[in-house]
Amino acid sequence: MTNVTIIGAQWGDEGKGKVVDWLASRADIVVRFQGGHNAGHTLVVGDQTYKLSLLPSGLVRGKLGIIGNGVVIDPAALLNEIERVTAQGLVVTPETLRIADNATLILPLHAALDSAREAARGDKRIGTTGRGIGPAYEDKIGRRAIRVCDLAEPESLSAKLDELLLHHNTLLAGLGAPIFKKQELLDSLLALAPKLLPFAEPVWERLATARRAGDRILFEGAQAVMLDIDHGTYPFVTSSNTVASTAASGSGVGPAAVGRVLGIAKAYCTRVGSGPFPTELHDETGRLLGERGHEFGTVTGRKRRCGWFDAALVRQAVKVGGIDGLALTKLDVLDGFPELKIGVGFNIKGNMYRHLPYGAAAQAAAEPIFETMEGWLGSTRGARSWAELPAQAIKYVRRIEELVEAPVTLLSTSPERDDTILMQDPFTD
Ligand code: IMP
Repeated sequence: MTNVTIIGAQWGDEGKGKVVDWLASRADIVVRFQGGHNAGHTLVVGDQTYKLSLLPSGLVRGKLGIIGNGVVIDPAALLNEIERVTAQGLVVTPETLRIADNATLILPLHAALDSAREAARGDKRIGTTGRGIGPAYEDKIGRRAIRVCDLAEPESLSAKLDELLLHHNTLLAGLGAPIFKKQELLDSLLALAPKLLPFAEPVWERLATARRAGDRILFEGAQAVMLDIDHGTYPFVTSSNTVASTAASGSGVGPAAVGRVLGIAKAYCTRVGSGPFPTELHDETGRLLGERGHEFGTVTGRKRRCGWFDAALVRQAVKVGGIDGLALTKLDVLDGFPELKIGVGFNIKGNMYRHLPYGAAAQAAAEPIFETMEGWLGSTRGARSWAELPAQAIKYVRRIEELVEAPVTLLSTSPERDDTILMQDPFTD
């Protein structure tokens, strides 16, 4: 048995929720290791739909959930989410949820700065979720962050708030945004402290014990490789590392604990927010993909941009993300298209590339090089075996495997949990 790490292989929203839920039902512990409440996982279980942002998906399956040190936690958002899912019947107590006491907190001033900066950028905005993710990670790297453990030390908290406010109020005032008052922030944090601290502990210790006991651990990534702060389409990225190796540093385990890495990719491609998207479609086909795939953001409700599958970018994500196998989702959305295209590289001012270079001008100028394939007339929706798939759909999947240089180990053919074709169980060695 091995552990499993799940990451997105495109720009997020690849349908991780369903795959994570399925694997969570077979894991003992589910760990979030990066991102924050910018993520949104929708899980449909029976007649209940759970929308999770910060809570590890395993809670829905009654498994122990751990929020690792690599996550940025908005305490008010977390407590709201706990209240909301508790009202839906889930049990979230310090027995079922543990939070790293060295995780960074997101405070209201982070969201304020996020929004003020986006407004100041005008049409150069990144299109962030406005949740304060970037500013919170900046404070972590800048060594002035407030962390979960600080809630237990009112005096240290007070001193740290002085330093934090000096920094943030200067920026906010410069941007013409309202500034924050120390006492109000301190009072609100001290009021949240007794609700949050019972969940807090050094989670690395628990994970080390679980490893020794042979428990199966599922590391649940948020966002995706093309939004990775180093490897993505910078600066149009999120502020954390989304690659699989972050599962180790973001939860306090060694790199071997990451186990098998499953990358999730849609059979086409979407993106929310601004930034390069070479295979984007601005025509009727793009509109149709969005309509058939119900492409609206879980967190912000924004319409997603849609385009053809970009095998060049997914190959890049496979390499830098450490992906062993791909879970391909939403194949059914392509049913009935007479012709399909796959991006296989980029033409940048007459030069051909198999990968997307990092320069902003090069990325903006990248023209996709497409390979065209015949579509299929039959339906893949709900298929649970290869035998049920039209021959041309199988060809499409096989071509993707060749181009991205990774096997498709799981195929999802509808939002229903059981409409899945499993080629290889990621938990088995
Ligand atoms: P931030 O993470 O809120 O700073 O947003 C930075 C970029 O990442 C924006 O383009 C967001 O739309 C995108 N982003 C953040 N979280 C997600 C997600 O869970 N799915 C898809 N895109 C996301």
